[in-house]
Amino acid sequence: MEIADRSLSAWGIVVAAGSGTRFGGDKHMATLGGISLWRWADRLFTDVGLDGVVVVGDVPGGIQGGVRRQDSVAAGLAAIPDSAEIILVHDAARPLASAGLVRRLLEAVAADNVDGAVPAVPLRDTIKRVHGHRIEETIDRSELVAVQTPQAFRGKMLRTAHLQITSDVTDDAAMVEAIGGSVTVIDGEPSNIKVTFAADLAMAESLLTEESRR
Ligand code: C5P
Repeated sequence: MEIADRSLSAWGIVVAAGSGTRFGGDKHMATLGGISLWRWADRLFTDVGLDGVVVVGDVPGGIQGGVRRQDSVAAGLAAIPDSAEIILVHDAARPLASAGLVRRLLEAVAADNVDGAVPAVPLRDTIKRVHGHRIEETIDRSELVAVQTPQAFRGKMLRTAHLQITSDVTDDAAMVEAIGGSVTVIDGEPSNIKVTFAADLAMAESLLTEESRR
């Protein structure tokens, strides 16, 4: 596809596996605006014009996931061609990411000397380090951000990171950072919330209604 005036092949991985324990059921088959949660991410990537999309999880057309999120991403990596120059990884649990966000990520990762690009939003809450119920420290949040998905990477870098890093991580950028890759941060979207608990789905539903009124 055309990215920043260059022709680069770009593939997407949508991770939709895992137990959904905190949600209390089969999260990705729950519907948002009448569409299964996992389909939002799949459609987003298809609509933006990625060269291919692999969905990981127990959903129609999905491939089998792994125990940890990173194992599910690795399963996705194994299913996409080695030639993919850019790979986007997206949590199916974030159904409201926009096409504009994906395009900005693609442009950011197409820049020279960039191995990855992630969206982030400022923190709203005061953050404290605690030990049990005891507060140990109030953290200066001015330099902290909350990172979202999709995350975009140079394909080779993401594959190398997944081969080398075996410790538990919570996102793919952490792996690329750990092997010395440069990951750039772009503005995320406050509405790109993660559906973790059942109440988050109600929140996503109201954000969707708000969006459709605009
Ligand atoms: O568990 P967490 O909220 O971090 O999950 C983020 C995303 O990763 C979800 O979309 C979930 O379906 C996916 N996941 C996965 N395989 C796992 C665990 C989580 O695909 N083993």
